[in-house]
Amino acid sequence: MDKLQAYLKNELDALRAQGVFHLPRVLETEQKATVIIDGHEVINLSSNNYLGLTVHPRMREAAIKAIEQYGVGSGSVRTIAGTMTLHNVLEEKLAHFKHTEASLTIQSGYATNLGVISAVMQEGDMIISDELNHASIIDGIRLSKASRKVFPHKDMAGLRRVLEESKGASKVMVVSDGVFSMDGDIAPLPGIVALAEEYGAFVMVDDAHSSGVLGKNGRGSVSHFGLDGRIALQIGTLSKGIGALGGYVACSQDMRDFLLQRAHPVLFSTSHPPSVVAPCIAALDILGEYRFLQARVGAARFQHRQERNAHHARHRGRGRAGHEVQPATL
Ligand SMILES: Cc1ncc(COP(=O)(O)O)c(C=O)c1O
Repeated sequence: MDKLQAYLKNELDALRAQGVFHLPRVLETEQKATVIIDGHEVINLSSNNYLGLTVHPRMREAAIKAIEQYGVGSGSVRTIAGTMTLHNVLEEKLAHFKHTEASLTIQSGYATNLGVISAVMQEGDMIISDELNHASIIDGIRLSKASRKVFPHKDMAGLRRVLEESKGASKVMVVSDGVFSMDGDIAPLPGIVALAEEYGAFVMVDDAHSSGVLGKNGRGSVSHFGLDGRIALQIGTLSKGIGALGGYVACSQDMRDFLLQRAHPVLFSTSHPPSVVAPCIAALDILGEYRFLQARVGAARFQHRQERNAHHARHRGRGRAGHEVQPATL
């Protein structure tokens, strides 16, 4: 116990000395453009609620109705007794939204990356990852028994070099964020896909930040670049643009069937409650009515531009994302 206490004290002291010790600010209102945080009314530039769906009346109504009809929990993991009609409806809609054969929802985007990468990539395989990929991809790679290599951020010559070095592997997967979570820039997916195809590799894209924002009706970076049918695994989250909670993978029917047997978050962790699933279904219906959302994104763009100017003043040359969601470091 003394050793544990000493460890914690050392770590916390070091974080404080580096000026990186933080406790979360507390939000006292719902997620809107203006919020009260720790007693102060402020403009909220930090949320991933890109489209305002978190507080959309149809989302609230869907959640309330689902609780009335189904209760507050799913009762089990998906493969025991935790797959409800609502889960299947959402997955059919997600597959339709992403133009894939199938999809599978998992508790969060984080858990989806962990579960998918560790299930699909085995010993003898090679995972090739952009150096700025999200922490959940990195953790998924660590959980997998596959070998791994990193290529410099968005560097296609670097990717080719690493693919060349990986020729002996059984399966090779190239994984990239679609929109990078820290800098907000867009992955060069056409180049990544072309190289992967040339070397017989397959591609996984984490579209957490582009779903709802890029592509037709917010279908994400794959749609934005017209790459439907050429990406084996499209990861998404229901916690950002979609406004609720959860993650999913859009993929082939065989991949979904495989993940239902092998992905640990599906097998060993309880599925989403109805009050989460139902508003996600509503969100996909709302996304179909894209003109409403474009108006919102247009309004957000003005606010983000102002923020971006401030950001550029601090980090010259970074953060020119090329779309409406912009990185903020204040
Ligand atoms: C690129 C990326 N992938 C995955 C996640 C995790 O998503 P979730 O918050 O749904 O767990 C995030 C969240 O920050 C992210 O930025």
